[in-house]
Amino acid sequence: LTACGAGNDSGKNDSSAAGTVSEENTESAEIKDAAEKDDDAILGDNFGKSGSYMARGDVKTEIVDDDKAANGKALHISGRAESWCGVNYSADLFRGNTVKAKGRFRSTSPHVSISVQYNALGNTTYNQICRAETNADGYAECEGTFEIPTTADKILLYIEADNTDDIYVDSVSFDIEGEYTYYPEAQKEAFVDTSDYPSLRELYEGELLIGTCISDKIIKTPEYKDFIARQFSSATMENEMKPDSLLDRDTTLSDPEKYMESPAVKFDHLKAQLDFAKENGIKLRGHTLLWHNQTPEWLFFKDYKNSKELADRELMLKRMENYIKSVFEWESENYPGLFYAWDVVNEAIDDGGGMRKSLWYQTVGEDFVERAFEYARKYQPEGVKLFYNDYNSYMSGKQNDILKMVKPIAEAGNLDGIGMQSHLNTGVSVDLFMVGLKRYYSELGCEIQITELDVGTDKSDADYSKQGDYYGRFMTKLLECKADGIPITSVTVWGITDSLSWRQGDDPLLLTGSMTAKPAFTAFAEAAETVRKSE
Ligand code: XIL
Repeated sequence: LTACGAGNDSGKNDSSAAGTVSEENTESAEIKDAAEKDDDAILGDNFGKSGSYMARGDVKTEIVDDDKAANGKALHISGRAESWCGVNYSADLFRGNTVKAKGRFRSTSPHVSISVQYNALGNTTYNQICRAETNADGYAECEGTFEIPTTADKILLYIEADNTDDIYVDSVSFDIEGEYTYYPEAQKEAFVDTSDYPSLRELYEGELLIGTCISDKIIKTPEYKDFIARQFSSATMENEMKPDSLLDRDTTLSDPEKYMESPAVKFDHLKAQLDFAKENGIKLRGHTLLWHNQTPEWLFFKDYKNSKELADRELMLKRMENYIKSVFEWESENYPGLFYAWDVVNEAIDDGGGMRKSLWYQTVGEDFVERAFEYARKYQPEGVKLFYNDYNSYMSGKQNDILKMVKPIAEAGNLDGIGMQSHLNTGVSVDLFMVGLKRYYSELGCEIQITELDVGTDKSDADYSKQGDYYGRFMTKLLECKADGIPITSVTVWGITDSLSWRQGDDPLLLTGSMTAKPAFTAFAEAAETVRKSE
């Protein structure tokens, strides 16, 4: 087997790469279809039409129809400067799957082989998949399988020979063996086996729902999906239920008159995740109805046109009510009982104190939070609790503002809970945090949920032990507060691994990118056990 160094020209031809389609999503759909059908090869040629191959190294390629071709046409590869020169097929779609390769070749070279090349974790790897014993007189076949790792990138399937003799290819095909999984990109680290990790959802069962944030992409990766199903009893969509994901811009803007008081909404993109949650007994936190971020500006303008002036209070109240109504009605109809909480309003308090002057504030006025909770109560699906959610919510200044804002809502009977996001770092006092937590209960008498927990580390904590200790103390104290009668109902960590975290660089989560358990995971699990022992 000859290695093909970085110096060959295979990379140059990437734009003419093989592959049936170019859009990522269609790619995955088409490849799945083809895999299920099993008759059409996913990738390959019988050289009837133009081929999807590209030159590998210095070669000449032409489709021939002469007596060297078997039945019909063949690909004639000649002028091969080196033995590794031949043809390439670009094959990133096979990442993480087992590829079944098959080919029929003729050559005076003793062998022609099908091989695979890819980059993984900084190295370029070459492997032979199968080798045909070729001769000048007729065609010889070979067939083989190869499992391509999830870390592989720039995957090329290629045809080469022992020497530089001409190669005739009658046909070549590449298929998926078994069920197809689409990995949109190469994993930066190889995954470790997490199947024997203690299950957080089981350890905390009966005490707290334990959640994480999810996305469509994450649940499409089997290693993450299996981990989530085993470990978590609650999930929050990291982005896909935010206003900019639920509001249907194209439909709304296509007929502003029709949608003037009730913007169109869309939910199709949520189906895979919600069905997954349902099948695995995972409850949902809805996040989030009203927010200043990830909310399209057009929502706030007359005729939904940014060039016009802001819509008035009356119109914005209608849009707010109808938007909440649409989301909640869809939920009641399609996923009754799946959601247990909704962040009705997120982050309405300004960092500098007082209410944030968001577009909701500017159009509706100071009472927009109150109105939102009123509407949410009016349309809430059965079993859903209504939450106000914010960060730094344990800090006394911010807490004063939050309490001032939500007290009338609680008094009106429209608030069920406070979501403390809890984007923390090891410098934040756990005791101080718990003082804040208890105060919400004593002043509002409502439920508390930890909604987006992550604890940033600093460089001095190279082995993550300080962070582990923090997570352990945090969870232990939380369970103590619960034992004291404070209705803490769920804890959500904002992601699974450090490489999936929105706080890249802070390494704030329970697992490393390879899904190796950090001290934080162990401490999180042990905190539950400690409490059980003391009971
Ligand atoms: C973050 C997501 O994690 C990111 O993927 C996104 O780019 C920005 O939003 N407070 C919240 C969450 O309420 O919705 C935010 O999530 C993090 C801060």
